[in-house]
Amino acid sequence: MSIRKAVLPVAGLGTRFLPASKAIPKEMITVVDKPVIQYVVEEALAAGIDEIVLVTHSSKKAIEDHFDANYELEAELERRGKTELLALLRDIAPARLKVSSVRQGRALGLGHAVYCARQVVGDAPFAVMLPDVLVAAAGDANDLQLMKEAFERSGRAQVMVEPVVWDQVHQYGVVDLAGQDLKPGQSAAMQRVVEKPPRADAPSNLSIVGRYLLPARIFDLLAVTPAGAGGEIQLTDAIAALMAEQGADAYRLRGRSHDCGSKLGYLEATLAYGLRHAQLAEDFQALLRRYAG
Ligand code: G1P
Repeated sequence: MSIRKAVLPVAGLGTRFLPASKAIPKEMITVVDKPVIQYVVEEALAAGIDEIVLVTHSSKKAIEDHFDANYELEAELERRGKTELLALLRDIAPARLKVSSVRQGRALGLGHAVYCARQVVGDAPFAVMLPDVLVAAAGDANDLQLMKEAFERSGRAQVMVEPVVWDQVHQYGVVDLAGQDLKPGQSAAMQRVVEKPPRADAPSNLSIVGRYLLPARIFDLLAVTPAGAGGEIQLTDAIAALMAEQGADAYRLRGRSHDCGSKLGYLEATLAYGLRHAQLAEDFQALLRRYAG
């Protein structure tokens, strides 16, 4: 069954990104010339996913506004004959994109956030995309699309992973592949998955990147998942329960991820996306050379 819906949990207050995230949602912070969340929605669209379910909070209205039409602005640009800008604006929310939102009234964890989307998602398999994380494609290969193909072939849940330095494993969900060597672009059965293990207990340095393809069964499991790491209801724990029932795979991305939830990760994303920007790349590179000297 083809996956058409993605759940984007955006209710978090973004304390890691203060002071920038005090009055604007952290998902609306700009990387080069677009808010972070726009890259994530573009990634979904490129993988054939066009129904976005935001799990949101009253302080995050700017996100819904960004994907809504802005009639006054469009009419003004049209009046002034600014066709390029108009196209840019309309590209943010192409006709096939549908955005809906549900509220997460209380911050009880990522698992709880995903559970809040249950009614809107229904019975079909769906994606979860954490908008703190940008996944930069390797060339033309969209990893989410490749992961979707793996899901369609095997019918098994897919969790995107990437190696991280061992010093950082305690910040992520980590997967156990029983020592199997997983090549970029491939999937393998997980033996175990643990949320934020201490380095000494981590089964590998393959961390969960923030992209998941899951069957609707996960909602039944989330409904009975007790609070785990950090006292929060963890999606990782529900995935461990799913794994015990029907197996689940880790998919190793070919591109690379940028964690825009951390300030240094955000700075690196700005460099990486500045250097691949169609109009700015060359001048930006010259600028970097000047600063490096
Ligand atoms: C969440 C997940 C974790 C995953 C991470 C990726 O953690 O719980 O398994 O590795 O996102 O960014 P958070 O960063 O919300 O603490």
